[in-house]
Amino acid sequence: MQTILNVQSLKKYYGKDPNVTKALDGVSFQVMQGEFLGIMGASGSGKTTLLNCLATIIKPTAGSIHMQNMELSNLREDELANYRGNEIGYLFQNFELIDNLTAKENILLPLSLHNVSEKESAQRLNLLSDCLDIKDVLNKFPSQMSGGQKQRVAAARALILNPNIVFADEPTGALDSKNARILMERLAKMNAMEKTTILMVTHNSYAASFCNRILFIQDGKLYHEIRRDRPRETQEDFYQRILKVMSTFAGGDQYVF
Ligand SMILES: Nc1ncnc2c1ncn2[C@@H]1O[C@H](COP(=O)(O)OP(=O)(O)O)[C@@H](O)[C@H]1O
Ligand SMILES: [Mg+2]
Repeated sequence: MQTILNVQSLKKYYGKDPNVTKALDGVSFQVMQGEFLGIMGASGSGKTTLLNCLATIIKPTAGSIHMQNMELSNLREDELANYRGNEIGYLFQNFELIDNLTAKENILLPLSLHNVSEKESAQRLNLLSDCLDIKDVLNKFPSQMSGGQKQRVAAARALILNPNIVFADEPTGALDSKNARILMERLAKMNAMEKTTILMVTHNSYAASFCNRILFIQDGKLYHEIRRDRPRETQEDFYQRILKVMSTFAGGDQYVF
């Protein structure tokens, strides 16, 4: 498998001495093409900071991020705009849909900035609305949709340009457990059927159990890694293994990275 994202010794410090917060303190990992990778950690462990560095929303203090073979800190403004617009998709906890556009208009919005034929975008919209089960809401406005529907529409928007990788920040954080399960099942299906590469950060063990591999983060450092042993290991077994890691390492300082 090909490595698409390579993060080395990434640091992000907020503030100045003596009030420095080491939100990321030397994080290294790789994401392979087609993976559904989870990064799990408690609130304040550095998850959003990490995704924001990867999406070039904020600048790291030190370290390197290679997307395929591009080092992000070397990109010019026009290359950065292309990276943000074409190569990555971003799914936020709070949907971030535009209120006065319909679901369909929200999903197609990223296309307005690109040269994609009508036929191609219609096909992609069709595939995504099938896969994410949002056919019935395409002509509705966000205020007319449930939280679960809004998040699946936001997922379609993140996927419409077929990005190399989708970053998802606590995508189930604002959903009830039924809608969280539906969203995760659909994302797992996109990953399995369309080979969409997904990097999701979450503090929710159940959401993480849909991933193929999980890295655990605490105080800005990765401290453990587990991989689902498919097809032998059921999702329930994997979920139990996640809980075990959480209880074994909770509050511990046994960093392995
Ligand atoms: N803009 C900021 N300025 C100062 N400190 C911040 C800022 N953003 C986050 N932090 C701090 O960095 C740490 C990691 O935050 P964050 O990445 O949001 O964690 P998570 O997403 O895992 O909850 C926390 O201690 C948080 O208070
Ligand atoms: Mg966060």
